[in-house]
Amino acid sequence: MKILFASSEVWPLIKTGGLGDIAYSLPHALQHLGEDVRIVLPAYQEVLKQLSSFKILGWLSLAIAGKKHSVRVLQANHPQFAMPIWLVDEQTLFDRPGNPYAHPEGYDWADNAERYTLFSEAVARLAMDDLKTGWKADVVHSNDWQTGMVSAFLDNEIERPRRIFTIHNMAYGGNFSHEVFNQLHLPSDWWSPEGVEFYGNFSMLKAGMIYSDMITTVSPTYAKEICTPAFGYGLEGVLASRSYKLKGILNGIDRDVWNPQTDPYIAAPFSAEQIQPGKFKNKMALLESYGVSVSKDMLKAPLLGMVSRLVEQKGLDMVLETIPLLLKITDANFVFIGTGHPHFEAQLLKLSEQHPQRVMVFIGYSEEKAHLLEAGSDIFLMPSRFEPCGLNQLYSLRYGTIPIVHRTGGLADTVVNASIENGKLNKSSTGFVFDQARASELLKTIMQALKIFTQKEHWNQLQLNAMQQDFGWEKSAQEYLALYKNAETGIDE
Ligand code: ADP
Ligand code: GLC
Repeated sequence: MKILFASSEVWPLIKTGGLGDIAYSLPHALQHLGEDVRIVLPAYQEVLKQLSSFKILGWLSLAIAGKKHSVRVLQANHPQFAMPIWLVDEQTLFDRPGNPYAHPEGYDWADNAERYTLFSEAVARLAMDDLKTGWKADVVHSNDWQTGMVSAFLDNEIERPRRIFTIHNMAYGGNFSHEVFNQLHLPSDWWSPEGVEFYGNFSMLKAGMIYSDMITTVSPTYAKEICTPAFGYGLEGVLASRSYKLKGILNGIDRDVWNPQTDPYIAAPFSAEQIQPGKFKNKMALLESYGVSVSKDMLKAPLLGMVSRLVEQKGLDMVLETIPLLLKITDANFVFIGTGHPHFEAQLLKLSEQHPQRVMVFIGYSEEKAHLLEAGSDIFLMPSRFEPCGLNQLYSLRYGTIPIVHRTGGLADTVVNASIENGKLNKSSTGFVFDQARASELLKTIMQALKIFTQKEHWNQLQLNAMQQDFGWEKSAQEYLALYKNAETGIDE
């Protein structure tokens, strides 16, 4: 089967979050199953810098917002990719530095609607083999609002590929005004409640939902949650009425990229068979990487870590509220890696200035540091208010770093709460799960985790349970394949 996988970010070329990881690992899992996959993304400056040789596949003539674009399409190979990468190279829109969506100063590019409309139309044209390369897609798999309109652009094609649309996060709707819709010169019949119109605005996320043959999201629990007002951002009705074509498929992880036995970014390898001394060495290296003087007491004390986009979703407010008390009543220390909302960045930095030996903060994006944090922390904090799937709790489990999570979305589907019954740790436990997204609940759960942390026999068992979990792609990639094959009639089981 020929599968065109479209994403606005793809690790290791460009990544802001989990979408980038999935846009690398899922296509590889599919290719591994014998499918013929192409990945397509915009030719951002950062991406072009990392690729050395290109072939020009051809030029697409597209008209967006009354402007004619002759869009060059490149094919590149990369040593880490098992398939060719296709790049939509429209320099006026994508030859920009840094983050794909925002200006280096932080604000969204003003022409994002135009950028991702053009990208979506290019993907649709490539799927139909307008370039006459002999490769016409059987399936086009689009991801998030940036590719929401791919399916719409294919709607009038008779021999079109199956259209799968995956929602990675409902919080990002790709919402623009009616005026923007008009400026883009899109087909006027798209402007309807059964099209892209959304309470008077234009929603690219909704386009993906309406025009695709199947909608998936990244965990079974989130698939249910988004059909309710608390998680649906106003689109819950659209989704609930399309539950016949909505399915939650849990994300997998790339077990080679996140492997404590071979990870090049960590200080010492370790495995479920032999967790120590490797894990301990990583703890030391992690603390040293923050430039603190590492004492024996510090190495003994529990180390709680967090790698995250610093946004509302991730429950940072709860973490910030609990730390001052935890610093007073426990010996726990904290390590953070993150970038995002200036308000959260400033509060974290303030805490670390006040407690330099106990709260260590790196503001920025660093793949290397993220791996070392996963390897060297004892506990991973992920109290997200909502979490479509979440990958960091899965990486944490694999690195024997016990996650503390809020029972929501993919977190609820992947972490089993630990409890001690009759002096024994329940067998299936892998982490700590709390029900209400409140700082007091988080605090209570951290206190419980810290108590078990001192009971070494239980803690070792918990780490072993966590490391024995298998969240590889095998099962989920098969589920996607089943959808690809039966997209028109796929019914949620
Ligand atoms: P989300 O996609 O909502 O950000 P996920 O848990 O699915 O959450 O995935 C986040 C991914 O981004 C992980 O691979 C995580 O390690 C990475 N990440 C987030 N922030 C940073 C950062 N500041 N530095 C390095 N990696 C980061
Ligand atoms: C989104 C979600 C996250 C998910 C990731 C990959 O960014 O916030 O929960 O794991 O996409 O699907």
